[in-house]
Amino acid sequence: MSTLVIVGTQWGDEGKGKIVDLLTGRADVVVRFQGGNNAGHTLKVAGEEIIVHLIPSGILYPNTLNIIANGLVVDPGVLLEEKSALRAKGYFQSDEQLLISERAQVIMPYHKVIDHGREELLGNAKIGTTGRGIGPAYEDKASRMGIRMGDLIRPERLKERINAAIDEKNFLIEHRFKKPRLDPEQVLEQYLDYGRQLQAHITDTTHVLHQRISGGSRVLFEGAQGTLLDIDHGTYPFVTSSNVVAGNVCCGSGVSPDRLDQILGVVKAYSTRVGQGGFPTELDNELGESIRARGAEYGATTGRPRRCGWLDLVILNHSVRLNGVSGIAVTKLDVLTGISPLKICTAYELDGQPLDRVPADIGDLERVKPRYREVKGWEEHLSDCRSFDDLPKNARDYVETIEHLTGVPVTLVSVGPARDQSILRKSPF
Ligand code: GDP
Ligand code: IMO
Ligand code: MG
Repeated sequence: MSTLVIVGTQWGDEGKGKIVDLLTGRADVVVRFQGGNNAGHTLKVAGEEIIVHLIPSGILYPNTLNIIANGLVVDPGVLLEEKSALRAKGYFQSDEQLLISERAQVIMPYHKVIDHGREELLGNAKIGTTGRGIGPAYEDKASRMGIRMGDLIRPERLKERINAAIDEKNFLIEHRFKKPRLDPEQVLEQYLDYGRQLQAHITDTTHVLHQRISGGSRVLFEGAQGTLLDIDHGTYPFVTSSNVVAGNVCCGSGVSPDRLDQILGVVKAYSTRVGQGGFPTELDNELGESIRARGAEYGATTGRPRRCGWLDLVILNHSVRLNGVSGIAVTKLDVLTGISPLKICTAYELDGQPLDRVPADIGDLERVKPRYREVKGWEEHLSDCRSFDDLPKNARDYVETIEHLTGVPVTLVSVGPARDQSILRKSPF
């Protein structure tokens, strides 16, 4: 048995999809354990770019089992679209490649209306959500009003559950958000149809995972979002609505903590954030724009420009501690070519006092001033480097500074979006 958890250590979009796709070559099962189609994971294989939002990034390998576990909120319409898009490209040819937990929550049409409606009413104070209904769906899970994937294949149950929820939702939609009411009959018909189309995939994935792990399968858990978007440990309230950290693999998939072997933290060589909220090392200037252009930093889900800034070790060390990161994958190192000097934030200052941790209060986070260490940049292009020794000295030093300041080995360095543009220093499997 061997398991590997891959998590984002910043604000998402660290390149998790690329790393999961690369390491799936060594895995038998790939599992998403939280979030939903707020995620956008980009895979680049044979010159073609594929973005997955819900289906695990292991889907490009025909013999790997992919699992959407109980911790997700699933939009069945999006899932079906993603499935046909992959099929049209020659992937996902067998239904057996994907299982969906019957315990996973379903994103309903009212969740999307409420997500949009709230953001509109918040105006300038909005969170900047992806508008996919993620927050309202998790709210219903907690309030026990949720509909689960297993309900989609049980018509009587589905009818009961929709009827139990719809009056309250329509009251909000009509009176609070001033939008047209939803017709419960239409919703029922549409979701029964989804159930029919997805029936072959819906099962007790917890049981399957227990069997596969006991049988010696290598299992890779694919995190979505990033640690600073975690609902408890992130920059609340500018966060997503699930726990993103490695600990949530257990709740989100039903695998016990003693089964987790390695935790790989994905770290972009600089920082980005999409949506609102504090960002101490943000470069709201020409340099930030230049990093956005070089790194093609536009959201894979919403297309929004990502805010860019320097690498922040206070953030990274917070993530290392929260996730128990045992190895780091540094991505997008190639994007920093030609920028010198480079800056790495090593601590904050709050009201003139040094601070070496992420403050819980969002106001404090907005006021902290980063303290930087300057390091030399490099001019060489990195995208053809295939071993650590191929990297120019200053790029190696940059990676080693990360190792030194976190105490965690950098086991993988990514120098381009394609699968082969990777330097695997130590395999986690
Ligand atoms: P994820 O959400 O963590 O999977 O990341 P996204 O896919 O949203 O964003 C990462 C972006 O960077 C995608 O466009 C990837 O193709 C791209 N990418 C990943 N690794 C590298 C890398 O090492 N270098 C470059 N230049 N691009 C990369
Ligand atoms: P991946 O998996 C980057 C952000 C949104 C917003 C906040 C809340 O691709 O790294 P939500 O729709 O979840 O209620 O939005 O979280 N967000 C992400 N940012 N990458 C993601 O996923 C994200 N998923 C959510 O921009 O600020
Ligand atoms: Mg993304």
